[in-house]
Amino acid sequence: MQANIVVLPGDGIGPEVTAAALSVLRTVARRYGHEFAFHEHDIGGIAIDKHGDPLPAATLAACQKADAVLLGAVGGPKWSDPNARIRPEQGLLALRKGLGLFANLRPVRPHPAALNASPIKPHLLTGVDIMVVRELTGGIYFGDKTRSADSASDLCSYSVDEIERVVRSAFRLARQRRGYLVSVDKANVLETSRLWRDVTARIGRDEFADVRLEHVLVDAMAMHLLSKPREYDVIVTENMFGDILTDEASMLAGSLGLLPSASLGDGKIGVYEPIHGSAPDIAGKGIANPYATILSCAMLLRHSLGLYDEADCIERAVDGALNAHAFTADLSSSGQHLSTDAAAQAVIEQMQAH
Ligand code: NAI
Ligand code: MG
Repeated sequence: MQANIVVLPGDGIGPEVTAAALSVLRTVARRYGHEFAFHEHDIGGIAIDKHGDPLPAATLAACQKADAVLLGAVGGPKWSDPNARIRPEQGLLALRKGLGLFANLRPVRPHPAALNASPIKPHLLTGVDIMVVRELTGGIYFGDKTRSADSASDLCSYSVDEIERVVRSAFRLARQRRGYLVSVDKANVLETSRLWRDVTARIGRDEFADVRLEHVLVDAMAMHLLSKPREYDVIVTENMFGDILTDEASMLAGSLGLLPSASLGDGKIGVYEPIHGSAPDIAGKGIANPYATILSCAMLLRHSLGLYDEADCIERAVDGALNAHAFTADLSSSGQHLSTDAAAQAVIEQMQAH
């Protein structure tokens, strides 16, 4: 297959981890006989420096024409003045909006070899395999905001359409996995949550009767994620609850450097990126963990290109590399660790060995 992939390295460790991940994608292309064309464009801080815009028009246009987008990370101390008029993160928000991406998928699968890196007891983590689907473009983050000298407000609103489309994606994923979906809300106090619950229940009843649906309140879910994470399969929730729960869930896997993500809409195009940021404290040292970005490439192959065997091949190779203790500094307790490039090379060697 021929595919046109836009690469947005961004800031900090973004260029390091995307370069490492591209070496893995090139190996996949050679092995399976695909032609992937990679086109690099600027986003975030570097785009502000070079073009005065965190999402230059040329970047968005290239992404709109692409089959998929691989992103590193944006931001850093150079652009972090809270009063600045333009900030790197605006580039990300504008990109999601420009591509119509409303569902953020974050798989959490603690790796057996990395269990000790998590603050949670290892026996609770064995076998955990969760997919969180977070609504990405609605809710309180996007509602009208007001501020006066002695009060402030943020409006939280959701339309039936906005709920339906993300909940349907979650049901479809649940159907491909264990057939179990948990919808998280705060329906005991929030009207938006009551609408969320009604819409989700209706879609479950009318379109996905084969999927078991459960509704859980967000405060209880925060607790269950730590006390019985193994019980969950697909979790769907609104924007702010998803933001908080996914950061919490990331701790199950030990290191931020292991967790990929996909942002999807109605079409095939998606933005794939590690969940971590630009890690300015380690940028330029060649020690960043590339696995989250490599695993994001597996999601890209699966969700945007429909290349399931190729995606499995990457995931198996990362498993193999971790089993062989190919650890970067964030995972290693022995003091011995691999560079970013050496970790990617370990993944490539696993692919070639099997
Ligand atoms: P961060 O995720 O960049 O770093 C948090 C900690 O984890 C740091 O100690 C870092 O060294 C470590 N870390 C992160 N990724 C790693 C990797 N691949 N390998 C090894 N260690 C890793 O979050 P932080 O420090 O809060 O934010 C730094 C900048 O990144 C800020 O400007 C923030 O706005 C931006 N950011 C961007 C995101 C994005 O592009 N999607 C997401 C989160 C933050
Ligand atoms: Mg967050």
